[in-house]
Amino acid sequence: MDRIRIRGGNKLNGVIDISGAKNAALPLMIIPLLTPETVTLHNVPRLVDAQRLQRILQNHGVDITTAGKKSGQAGAAGETLKISAKTIVDTVAPYELVSKMRASFWVLGPLIARMGEAKVSLPGGCAIGTRPVDMHIMAMEKLGATVEIDQGYVIAKAKNGLKGGHISFSKVTVGATHAALMAAVLAKGDTTIENAAMEPEITDVAECLVKMGAKIEGIGTRNLNITGVTSLHGAEHTVVADRIETGTYAMVVGMTGGDVLLRGARADTIENVILTMQRAGLTVDTTNEGLRIRRNGSGILPVDVTTDPYPGFPTDMQAQFMGLMTMAKGKSHIRETIFENRFMHVQELARLGADIHLHGDMAEVRGVTKLTGADVMATDLRASVSLVIAGLAAQGETNIHRVYHLDRGFEALEEKLQGVGADVTRIAGA
Ligand code: UD1
Repeated sequence: MDRIRIRGGNKLNGVIDISGAKNAALPLMIIPLLTPETVTLHNVPRLVDAQRLQRILQNHGVDITTAGKKSGQAGAAGETLKISAKTIVDTVAPYELVSKMRASFWVLGPLIARMGEAKVSLPGGCAIGTRPVDMHIMAMEKLGATVEIDQGYVIAKAKNGLKGGHISFSKVTVGATHAALMAAVLAKGDTTIENAAMEPEITDVAECLVKMGAKIEGIGTRNLNITGVTSLHGAEHTVVADRIETGTYAMVVGMTGGDVLLRGARADTIENVILTMQRAGLTVDTTNEGLRIRRNGSGILPVDVTTDPYPGFPTDMQAQFMGLMTMAKGKSHIRETIFENRFMHVQELARLGADIHLHGDMAEVRGVTKLTGADVMATDLRASVSLVIAGLAAQGETNIHRVYHLDRGFEALEEKLQGVGADVTRIAGA
């Protein structure tokens, strides 16, 4: 199994190109199931999760052709995928495929909407809490589907098509909002989605659906109103820049010091994170090329954060921010409100010398003046990258094992870091 070796201590300077957002690319790859015409997606990040999803879609009979610059090429702008679901040959998404990636469960909505039936295995994905799918199922039922769970499969049917309905989420959920939206666009009549997630990735998907002929109002707000159409057509869309990757590299620079331009970053999608970084003592400038992050000389200031649905501080940045806070000049508190059990990075950060105490959903981080390299284990996607952040500031050598987690969500991580002067190497099979 590969590992990543980091020799910490270098300040970072230069340019990092921000990739397309994984969390937008995955649902964008799924919505072509709604039309027999071709949807062309640009700026799709080269990630293991995107490749896995291609295999899952191909299993349903979807044709996918790929073009685009090679990874590592200057200014590489992701892949272009032409996705065509002319004929859907199978409405079953089997356990072997879905268990590896939670987002593949989201094929449920489009399959019922277009084919009137779907049988999708209950999902897998990062081990961060129980992550139920009750609200996905509720949304499908509100749209007129009958749903049963049998031997680990969700079996949904709507023989005469879906009907518009009122869906009210008791808790903000990204996945179930995607599911409801993807299904409602082809349902007969009007649908309202109350307490919808308004993450930029939902907006990106909704905008692509509109290009495909969907009628959606309230995009980017908590309430979505959809008027169903009888069919959708092909479209061309560019995946929005990854705000989590942007925030991650910003924290990297905060940790190491230096001056890095995050080219292509969209400041408007990470306003809360920018404010938090400024409070922590980083200089953040929005330029017409992206975001410029600097920390020269001054130390890192402690800041308290609580994760919340967008526009709050993202749970997907919690581990990275904790990495940064391990070397702050004082005590900070980080509260996780979205997922239980999302503190698996704490014990690994401790191996590098971090001083963190857990009190339920709150981590108290007491900043230390020095971290020391060690062997650590990646436990989930975002947790793994917090170890990269800490390793880049640690004295000596850090080896991160089980890096397949990183490959699920960070395109060309080592190349991007090497490009700004970090001493990071992937060591195959060790
Ligand atoms: C998505 C993101 C993930 C991010 C998360 C929260 C993708 C591919 N993944 O995950 O990176 O961390 O949003 O921003 O976009 N819940 C229920 N019942 C449901 C669905 C969710 O109780 O039916 C709960 C979850 O357990 C969790 C909360 O709602 O506590 C939010 O989950 P959700 O927003 O749905 O996360 P995902 O869509 O899985």
